[in-house]
Amino acid sequence: MKQRVDLNGKTILVTGSPGFIGANLVLRLLKEMTSGTVVSLDNMNDYYDPKLKEYRLSLIEDAAKTSGVGHVFIKGSIADQALIDRVFDEYKPAVAVNLAAQAGVRYSIDHPDVYIESNLIGFYNILEACRHHPVEHLVYASSSSVYGGNKKVPFSTDDKVDNPVSLYAATKKSNELLAHSYAKLYDIPCTGLRFFTVYGPAGRPDMFYFSATQKLVKGETISIFNYGNCKRDFTYVDDIVEGVLRVMQGAPEKKTGEDGLPLPPYAVYNIGGGTPENLLDYISTLQEELVRAKVLPPDYDFEKHRKLVGMQPGDVPVTYADSRALEEDYGFRPTIGIREGLRAFAAWYKEYYS
Ligand SMILES: NC(=O)c1ccc[n+]([C@@H]2O[C@H](COP(=O)([O-])OP(=O)(O)OC[C@H]3O[C@@H](n4cnc5c(N)ncnc54)[C@H](O)[C@@H]3O)[C@@H](O)[C@H]2O)c1
Repeated sequence: MKQRVDLNGKTILVTGSPGFIGANLVLRLLKEMTSGTVVSLDNMNDYYDPKLKEYRLSLIEDAAKTSGVGHVFIKGSIADQALIDRVFDEYKPAVAVNLAAQAGVRYSIDHPDVYIESNLIGFYNILEACRHHPVEHLVYASSSSVYGGNKKVPFSTDDKVDNPVSLYAATKKSNELLAHSYAKLYDIPCTGLRFFTVYGPAGRPDMFYFSATQKLVKGETISIFNYGNCKRDFTYVDDIVEGVLRVMQGAPEKKTGEDGLPLPPYAVYNIGGGTPENLLDYISTLQEELVRAKVLPPDYDFEKHRKLVGMQPGDVPVTYADSRALEEDYGFRPTIGIREGLRAFAAWYKEYYS
């Protein structure tokens, strides 16, 4: 059973907005809520072109003008404990959604410090703030990377995930453990969401579909890892946002155990398409959609601009979500296929870069 959380008239904090998923979530909240305030908080770091974050923020600010919901943007880091404490004290969010994190598996190999700072210290600050300024629900981003090299598919939240193959994955699994302890000790309703390879318009330029597009446009060669023998459960951003929005409104119920202490109001879900695509099929669809959107000419020689290379450290050969628990508890599972999703990306790319 879930405790219903009405978002209307309340303050919702979304960290990592205007990041990719955060900005899309905030745009949806501005559309769906009838009253209240949405607070976006982001340090606007330059892991990828910050102009994209400014662009997404401008979309949010435009949407806020015609929404009945207020929007406040705070530039700052979740690793700044005094700031996070002040934000919770001043805005008293009823629901906090922590999406701020240093993302990316490969970057964690050369830049471990920032993962510890943002993903561990930053998340700890969010938990402490929720402890001292109680929220109705804390929802936070975990990742499919916690499944590491697990062989059993589809990946279920009941599977053992104690063998991360990247520091990024280790920080995300740590978030789930930290959240569990805070849920148990302080009765904070917490839900972790393991997102599976999220893509879409104005997405992250460090992710394959986006960086490959940029390279092809420049006439450069794209590297296809593990010689193309990869399967990914690609999830279109609108499906992720729908899942997050539903989860936000249903918190794990508070209950007391036989020992008189709280049973942790805690849950973790996968949000993934549930239909893993072969990387080479995904690339073919991307190519077709880039031509269709006139990002690339119809006679583009794709074969000349690709090379098959080995596996990268930290990478895994397959991701495959079992999202049945999400469907059972929230009546939703992702449905948007790669054709529709990549078409929307290609159309956006054409418009944005011309
Ligand atoms: N996109 C995916 O495929 C995917 C998959 C699994 C999990 N996730 C997780 O979902 C969340 C959102 O990812 P995204 O794809 O939107 O990435 P993103 O990089 O676009 O968004 C994250 C945002 O967090 C901000 N940020 C980073 N460190 C911060 C800090 N210390 N303080 C404040 N802001 C900070 C960044 O500036 C960025 O705007 C992340 O937690 C990520 O790990 C994403």
